[in-house]
Amino acid sequence: MKHSYLLASLALLALPAVAQNPALNARIAQLAQAEETKVIAWRRDFHQHPELGNEEKRTAGIVAAHLKKLGLEVQTGIGRTGVVGILKGGKPGPVVALRADMDALPVTEATGLAFASTVKTTYLGQPVGVMHACGHDSHVAMLMGAAEVLSQVKKELSGTVKFIFQPAEEGSLPGVVGGAKLMIQEGVLDNPKVDAIFGLHINAQTEAGSLSYRPGGEMASADRFTIKVIGKGAHGARPWNSVDPVVTAAQIIMGLQTIVSRQVNLTDDAAVVTVGTLKAGVRYNVIPDQVELTGTIRAFDKKTQEQIWAAVRRTAKGIAESAGATVEVGFEAYVPVTYNDPPLAARMLPTLQAVAGGATNVREVKVNTWAEDFALYQEKVPGLFVFVGGMRKGVDPATTADHHTPGFTLDESGFTLGVKTLATLAADYLAAPK
Ligand code: NI
Repeated sequence: MKHSYLLASLALLALPAVAQNPALNARIAQLAQAEETKVIAWRRDFHQHPELGNEEKRTAGIVAAHLKKLGLEVQTGIGRTGVVGILKGGKPGPVVALRADMDALPVTEATGLAFASTVKTTYLGQPVGVMHACGHDSHVAMLMGAAEVLSQVKKELSGTVKFIFQPAEEGSLPGVVGGAKLMIQEGVLDNPKVDAIFGLHINAQTEAGSLSYRPGGEMASADRFTIKVIGKGAHGARPWNSVDPVVTAAQIIMGLQTIVSRQVNLTDDAAVVTVGTLKAGVRYNVIPDQVELTGTIRAFDKKTQEQIWAAVRRTAKGIAESAGATVEVGFEAYVPVTYNDPPLAARMLPTLQAVAGGATNVREVKVNTWAEDFALYQEKVPGLFVFVGGMRKGVDPATTADHHTPGFTLDESGFTLGVKTLATLAADYLAAPK
C-alpha cells in the first residue's frame, strides 16, 4: 500500500508520465513468474552447451524454433548466427527492440555445477574450455521467456516488438566483423524500423531482485591499440650495437601510465589505459629487432577518447625517437560509450521501479569501465541498458567470482525480474512512446 502510494506520487510529481496499463502489467508479471522454471531450464541447457562468438549455431537453432512455435515471424542467419523474431501487436504503434547476446567465452569452467560446461576448443592456437562466464546464457533464456510472455498478450500491444538474439558480443577474432556491428550492417534495425531498443545484463555482483542503470554514459568506449617498436637487433652481450626495442617498449609502457594519471581530467570522468600483451624476442641473449605491445583504452566521452589516442601516439613516438627507434601505432575502435538516452531513461524509470517492486530496488550506479556492443545500437536509436541482479541476497560482492572468470556463477532466482523487465519495458514503451 505504502509502496504504490509512493510510486504514484513519484510518477506524478517528479517523472514524465508513462501510460502504464496496470491490468496489462499485472498480467505480464504473472506470466513472467509462470516462465521461471522454463527460463532456468533453458539457461542450464545453454550453460552446458556454450558456443563461442559467431559459432552460436545450436543456441540460435533453439531460439529460432522457440520463436516459430510462438507464432513470430523469424529471420535467421543475420550477422552469421543471429536470430530475429517479430511480434506484431493487436493495435498499431511504434517498433521496440529487445536484445540478448548469445556468445560464450574461451574460459575453462571451474564452478563444479551439475550443469557445468565440459566443452573444449582451441582459441587463437591455445587449448581452452568454453564457458558462459558472462551470463549471456541467462540473457538468451530471459529474452525467450519475455517473447513467450509478450506473445500471450499480443492483442493488447500497441505496436511491434522485435526480438534480437545477437552473436559475438564479446568480439570476433581479429580482423573479423561481427556482433551488433554486423547485425546493424545487415539491417536489423530496419524493416520494420526500430524506434527504441532495450537490453539488459545480468550482474553477478548485485543482489537478485534489484535493477541498476545510469542515464547518459553507463559503460565505457573500448578501443584496442597496437604499438610496434622497431629497433635494431644485436648479440645480447653487445647491446651498444643495437637499438634495443625491449628497453624502449618498457619505457613506452611506463610513459603510457602518465596519460590517465597526469593528462586526463579525472574530475570529468574515469579513463583507463592498459597494456595487455607484450611480445618480444625468442632467446635470452639475443636483442630482437622489434617488439609489439597491445592494450585497451576505456573512456566515457568522445573528447577524452580522442585525447587519449593522441597521447598514446605522441608518447610512443617521442620515447622511440629518443632511443633512435621507430614506432607504428594503430588503433581499432571496438565499441563506443554505452549511452542511455536521458529522456528515454527518465521516461522508463517508473517502469523499472514498478517491475522491481519499488524505487529502493532500482539503483542509479556509477560508470562502469566494462564495454558493451549494445552501444552500437544506441548510436542509431535511443536505447536503455539495464543491469539485473544475479547474486544471492546477503552475499558480500567481494567474495563472488567476477564475470569472465572460471568460478562465475549466478543466482537463478534473479531471472524472473529480467523477464518481467524486458516484457514490461516493451509494453510500456509501446503504450506511450513519446
Ligand atoms: Ni557480457
